[in-house]
Amino acid sequence: MEIKVFKNDEEIAEKAAGDIISLVNSKNNPVIGFATGASPVSTYKRIIKAYNEGKVSFKNVTSFNLDEYCTIPKSDKNSYYTFMHENLFDKIDIDEKNINIPDGNPANVEEFCNGYDKKIAEKGGIDIQILGIGRNGHIGFNEPSDIFTEQTYKVKLTESTVEANDKYFGSASLMPKEAITMGIGSIMKSKTIILIACGIEKAEAVRDMIKGNVTPECPASILQKHSDARIYLDEDAASLL
Ligand code: GLP
Repeated sequence: MEIKVFKNDEEIAEKAAGDIISLVNSKNNPVIGFATGASPVSTYKRIIKAYNEGKVSFKNVTSFNLDEYCTIPKSDKNSYYTFMHENLFDKIDIDEKNINIPDGNPANVEEFCNGYDKKIAEKGGIDIQILGIGRNGHIGFNEPSDIFTEQTYKVKLTESTVEANDKYFGSASLMPKEAITMGIGSIMKSKTIILIACGIEKAEAVRDMIKGNVTPECPASILQKHSDARIYLDEDAASLL
């Protein structure tokens, strides 16, 4: 793991966006794994700025998102489909047909999930996967558990995750309790992983990820085993290291 502590979210965004832009400008058909949540938003703003300045084009980029809520339609204002379009895809020149976001309501869950991993492999694998981290150490929607999950699958969300995200839905009762997420195995196949964490509420999860044992009780701890995991933290998130 490469751990870098930055003064603030803006500095993290400059570095993370720089890593992505360098990849896109140096590879023919790059594949990027995107994440939702507040953590990568400043990075996405930086990418949009660079695109508007003519410094990068996403025409040849294929994207795969980590996860999507079940039960709500993709047109819902809280779907990750909407999030990604509003915060990034509608503001750059990525081709809609190259965008992959899990279907939260597939007719056949198993078939869909197998197909998602297969498609990532067919595209040559993910070059850079962006991650945030949940307060309980989850990545994507891989919640603390007894095992490290392998492939994309349907997951039941924990109370901690519902509590952290229900503000977007107005109340816990309106928030979906299940999601489709890439598995830990799918995430670990990415050539480079950039995990962004900001704020004191992430400090314990960050400490467990970096200093704790590698255990599925803190899913992000598996990143200790990745050959190119870059952990970009602000001072608060790094405060327990
Ligand atoms: C959700 C997402 C994760 C994200 C996490 C942290 O659970 N599924 O991918 O990393 O929230 O979100 P935030 O960045 O808003 O703290």
